[in-house]
Amino acid sequence: MSARDVIVALDFPTGAETLAFLDRFPAGEKPFVKIGMELYYAEGPAVVRALKERGHRIFLDLKLHDIPNTVKRAMSVLSRLEVDMVNLHAAGASEMMRAAVEGLTRPDGSRPLLIAVTQLTSTGPETLKRELLIDTPMEETVLSYAQNAAASGLDGVVCSPLEAAAVKSRCGRDFLTVTPGIRFSGGDVGDQKRIMTPARAGKAGCDYIVVGRPITQAPDVVEAYRRAAKDFLG
Ligand code: C5P
Repeated sequence: MSARDVIVALDFPTGAETLAFLDRFPAGEKPFVKIGMELYYAEGPAVVRALKERGHRIFLDLKLHDIPNTVKRAMSVLSRLEVDMVNLHAAGASEMMRAAVEGLTRPDGSRPLLIAVTQLTSTGPETLKRELLIDTPMEETVLSYAQNAAASGLDGVVCSPLEAAAVKSRCGRDFLTVTPGIRFSGGDVGDQKRIMTPARAGKAGCDYIVVGRPITQAPDVVEAYRRAAKDFLG
């Protein structure tokens, strides 16, 4: 049921730089792309429409987290942008997640995929315990948030490729895992800590890998994108 694909993280500060990057691909090759807060806050819905017009599938990574009514109304606006995937924080809890599904669903019953962020990978076990006052260990917290997301009707979670198998065994085979933290073997790790190659992520059962700098900073971006897709899809 899952489509499985590489999603290129467009972490650029302006629409012009984003389009210059995408112009390096041949006309018929349209990667699935992720628009995050930096680009969306700089350019607004216009950049989403521009990339949609060019034929890209879009993951709008805005990580909504607010009271249920606000998230429902915001999701309703995002559904009209015709993106393919959006996300929210599972920490907003089940009532907010159910409201999000409702808001996102169009009159004809269709909607973009809705994915939950569990615990940010920048939150370590010490912060979880001392600052967020969560005594449950990190892995169980992540799996429990994923379970809440599944029970609320969401389609999957953003997680580390190292957690994909555990998420699937807890939430079901069809529950999607969208995984950043991807690096080619021998590549620059940057600030990512828990990483996996595209090939290993494919074998680990990840549905979508999110790849930023290994593609956007590569000398030959098209070659890097094709290599990620070939390795991941096998
Ligand atoms: O450049 P890199 O491949 O590290 O980019 C990964 C992308 O995935 C970035 O847009 C980053 O914000 C996003 N992401 C992440 N870890 C998470 C959630 C999102 O790296 N837990």
